Amino acid sequence: MFESLQALPADPILGLSVAYQKDSNPSKVDLGVGVYKTETGATPIMKAVALAQRHRIDTETTKTYISSAGDAGFNDKIAKLVFGEDSPVLARQCTVSTPGGTGALRMAGEFIKRCNPGATLWVTNPTWANHNALFQAAGLVVKSFSYFDKANSCVDFDAMMADLQAVPKGDVVLLHACCHNPSGADLNQAQWQAFAQLAKDKGFTPLLDMAYQGFGEGLEADAYGPRLLAETLPELLLTTSGSKNFGLYRERVGAFTLVGDSSAKVDILSSVLQNVARCIYSMPPAHGAAIIDIILGSEELTALWQDELAEMRGRIHELRALLVEKLHARQDKKDFSFITRQYGMFSFLGIDKEQVHRLKDEFSVYMVDSSRMNVAGINHNNVDYLADAITKVL
Ligand code: LMR
Repeated sequence: MFESLQALPADPILGLSVAYQKDSNPSKVDLGVGVYKTETGATPIMKAVALAQRHRIDTETTKTYISSAGDAGFNDKIAKLVFGEDSPVLARQCTVSTPGGTGALRMAGEFIKRCNPGATLWVTNPTWANHNALFQAAGLVVKSFSYFDKANSCVDFDAMMADLQAVPKGDVVLLHACCHNPSGADLNQAQWQAFAQLAKDKGFTPLLDMAYQGFGEGLEADAYGPRLLAETLPELLLTTSGSKNFGLYRERVGAFTLVGDSSAKVDILSSVLQNVARCIYSMPPAHGAAIIDIILGSEELTALWQDELAEMRGRIHELRALLVEKLHARQDKKDFSFITRQYGMFSFLGIDKEQVHRLKDEFSVYMVDSSRMNVAGINHNNVDYLADAITKVL
């Protein structure tokens, strides 16, 4: 039965970590996987998370099963974080915990198939490398629409809207709620409004992947798109992740949210979601969700968490400016100022695959082949080395 199998290449993102670990060059720079790092290159447990975890360990009394919907307290608080404490949307949405943001996306794929087995899922060109494989594995047809203008390093909104004219009712359009992965180029408020109107006119359903709330402009500002779409459209699908903004990467904590056209639908949506989860993984892991539930249930821990998140966000903005300054001091062949106009962990450096490979082979600088770099991997110790290396391959 196994004879026909062939070894597959390493994952284009996760495989970089393995290669980086094996590299013995003391100057190596890891700009691969989207993980936040401090000045020393560490990814420490956030203080709010450590405190909540301690509390959880001291007070947890059982490890018995939870429901397929996961932790009700977590589900409720995540919906409030996304839509706002007093949003009227809360009454017509249903949120379930999932094994990470990836689990939430798989749930979305399975749910779309239940609603419309012939649906096409439309993704931005480019999008997170795993979106295509993940939704195809769930049995959906995946097509892309114009999104990123490579020449100007920004969203090509006219081309995007022109392409989306062709999307029929019953199809699903996936947008990144903030901090577009891999480009860092986000829609502005006017563009979100125009997109919402188009979705309304055409009747397609948006799916928002929100893996980086708090990493762009702030927790509230980053939720502009989701809030607008949820308030103005009858239906919305949304996935969130606790990997980045709570730093709970390996605990696998995420959520899948459905917004329906009325509160009467919520029970139906909830029963379908629980059935979908039961058929894939039965129930989600509880630990990470419990930690987030504790943090968001405590004013003190929420304030601490928000401060830590603001520090991470601020540091990434500073690193963007620092890298641009260092690159511009070394060369004038290429204008890198677009890096400071982008949000979240990622930007494309805008070099070709051969140059990316030279960075890896000659300088032990690791980034995805597309030239997506994780800005959070830069620090004051490696930025000069990095800028020298980039300048040499330009
Ligand atoms: C990334 O894009 O680097 C992260 O979301 C990690 C992953 O799973 O790919």
